[in-house]
Amino acid sequence: MTSTIVTGAAGFIGANFVLTWPYASAGPVVNLDKLTYAGNLQSLESLAAQPAHRFVRGDIGDAELIRTLLREEQPRAVVNFAAESHVDRSILGPEEFVQTNIVGTFRLLQEVLTYWRDTLKSDPSFRFLHVSTDEVYGTLGPKDPAFSETTAYAPNSPYSASKAASDHLVRAYHHTYGLPVLTTNCSNNYGPFQFPEKLIPLVIHNALAGKPLPVYGDGQQVRDWLFVEDHCSAIRAVLEKGRVGETYNVGGNSEKKNLDVVKTICAILDELKPRSDGKPYADQITFVQDRPGHDRRYAIDATKIEREIGWKPAETFETGIQKTVKWYLDHHAWVHGVTSGDYRKWVEKQYG
Ligand code: NAD
Ligand code: DAU
Repeated sequence: MTSTIVTGAAGFIGANFVLTWPYASAGPVVNLDKLTYAGNLQSLESLAAQPAHRFVRGDIGDAELIRTLLREEQPRAVVNFAAESHVDRSILGPEEFVQTNIVGTFRLLQEVLTYWRDTLKSDPSFRFLHVSTDEVYGTLGPKDPAFSETTAYAPNSPYSASKAASDHLVRAYHHTYGLPVLTTNCSNNYGPFQFPEKLIPLVIHNALAGKPLPVYGDGQQVRDWLFVEDHCSAIRAVLEKGRVGETYNVGGNSEKKNLDVVKTICAILDELKPRSDGKPYADQITFVQDRPGHDRRYAIDATKIEREIGWKPAETFETGIQKTVKWYLDHHAWVHGVTSGDYRKWVEKQYG
């Protein structure tokens, strides 16, 4: 069976994607990842005995490597997760975001286009699926309707601007050259293997370490939360059934204020692993300086993917967050592995 190339699958969502991939029915996966600070081979340990998963260390911006891989593998699809993904990092250092998210995606597209033209133009099944974010749509007021696929792009951070640029390139490669592309724009993910720089794992990690739980500004910003395995199932569904050239919004129908998310995690930890002094974890909540340009609210209208493809999330926020907190409690070694070295330097720079 022909393979699928998945980029960035040593990171949070990509790892979950290749861990839950149906190898028997969907064929082998080649996982191409640069292993930046966010890439972690420990997340892929359970695939060691899976011969249909092959890891290749490399950059999506390395045209020669991509060309060789495409020639060797003759994949039936390329799924592009590889990106710099953290908004706060993009504010402190946007350059890497431009390099990977824009230049990297461009180089990948260019090589995929050549491969598709030379090899596969007559095969109607090839797909390039680009994994993107709801942040490209900008920010919403409290009463605004949720983002739909026709909402105008209005990115506000260097991260979201770089993702928006990559989405535009993907769109252009379809409209100009006919490359069979699909794009998904998803809301905030949470679940196993998320690097503890993002809100939910950071709060779990800091709570257990007795550290402050930093809430930006007034904590009233709203995000839509989706359990990561639901995002993975949505991507698989779009890959199989999505209409070429279309974009699909993916969301959890689960808008929450940041402060409420933090309080929910504290309450679960109070139950599962009470503090030794008997006090609530919520005592550790600390309001800190807001993120510059902080988007106030994101919300996703996911009716298109449900109507056309029949996809709906399986988890609610309540079930997903319980599973997530338990996972972090049970996987101390994974957390310890990623919370050393570079991670420490980053935390120092960000939080002082
Ligand atoms: P992540 O930061 O956890 O992982 C990114 C992975 O990409 C890492 O393994 C990293 O090593 C790899 N990578 C970075 N630059 C690379 C390069 N030049 N070449 C090859 N590999 C490279 O990110 P994530 O949270 O798993 O997000 C994955 C994708 O999903 C991103 O494109 C992101 O924009 C998108 N997304 C994320 C969320 C979310 O809530 N995390 C929501 C919607 C969309
Ligand atoms: O919406 C999808 C996006 O979700 C993805 O495209 C990004 O890759 C992903 O990182 C995420 O972006 P956010 O900026 O929304 O996620 P983050 O976990 O960094 O922050 C979530 C919210 O919590 C946001 O409003 C900022 C706030 N926050 C975050 C951190 C890290 C805090 O209040 N304190 C914190 O320490």
